[in-house]
Amino acid sequence: MLELRDVHAHYGSSHILQGVSLRVGAGEVVALLGRNGVGKTTTIRAITGLISVSRGEILFKDTPIQDEPPYRRARMGMGLVPQGRGIYPNLSVREQLLLPPDRNGRWSLQEIYALFPILRERRRHAGDQLSGGEQQMLAIARALRSNPELLLLDEPSEGLAPMMVKRVGEVLQDIKRQELSILLVEQNLSLALSVADRVYIMNKGVIVHECPAAELAQDEETQHRLLGV
Ligand SMILES: Nc1ncnc2c1ncn2[C@@H]1O[C@H](COP(=O)(O)OP(=O)(O)OP(=O)(O)O)[C@@H](O)[C@H]1O
Ligand SMILES: [Mg+2]
Repeated sequence: MLELRDVHAHYGSSHILQGVSLRVGAGEVVALLGRNGVGKTTTIRAITGLISVSRGEILFKDTPIQDEPPYRRARMGMGLVPQGRGIYPNLSVREQLLLPPDRNGRWSLQEIYALFPILRERRRHAGDQLSGGEQQMLAIARALRSNPELLLLDEPSEGLAPMMVKRVGEVLQDIKRQELSILLVEQNLSLALSVADRVYIMNKGVIVHECPAAELAQDEETQHRLLGV
């Protein structure tokens, strides 16, 4: 579904991604982990086209996409749930759900409301009237509306109360059952390990560890050394 080969990216003269290589298979859930500031969001931005790649290759469904603009990557089937959620404060829930172009209507409003009953209840509320958890549900729902084949989530549990973190985990399990491919950036290790099949750990702009999620769950030494858990 997705492959990064030796991807480099810069912010001005800062060399942030220093040769990132990773893959997400069809129907696979992959977690991208790492401490603050190691380049996880920058990796997501490189994949979605929000930052340009200075070297290396990104393949989406076997097509090189590193020169495609973000909107075209979205049309090809990438859905992004950005860090910080990106909710519009003044638009209602329903309006925000109607914004993405319908790629083929698999996620109708009815199906979205079935998966997220709280969004049906809140459909007339503006973005800034929602709780953090409700905003996160809306961000995930909005990404699904464009019927992605690959869903990219950047720290969906950030800033949420434990109950809502649990709910995010349940939603990700539901989505996983729909056979979407998922790349999940997370600081919450137990959430990541509860949904991911495989994990990569980043440090200082490169991938330094790769293993099945079940293996990292048992490997306290690696958790401590690379994640500070
Ligand atoms: N717009 C920017 N301009 C310059 N440097 C940036 C910019 N955004 C991020 N950086 C730097 O790039 C590095 C990687 O940042 P990035 O946001 O990818 O980290 P992250 O792993 O997502 O961290 P976090 O867990 O805090 O979200 C950091 O050193 C950060 O300070
Ligand atoms: Mg980040």
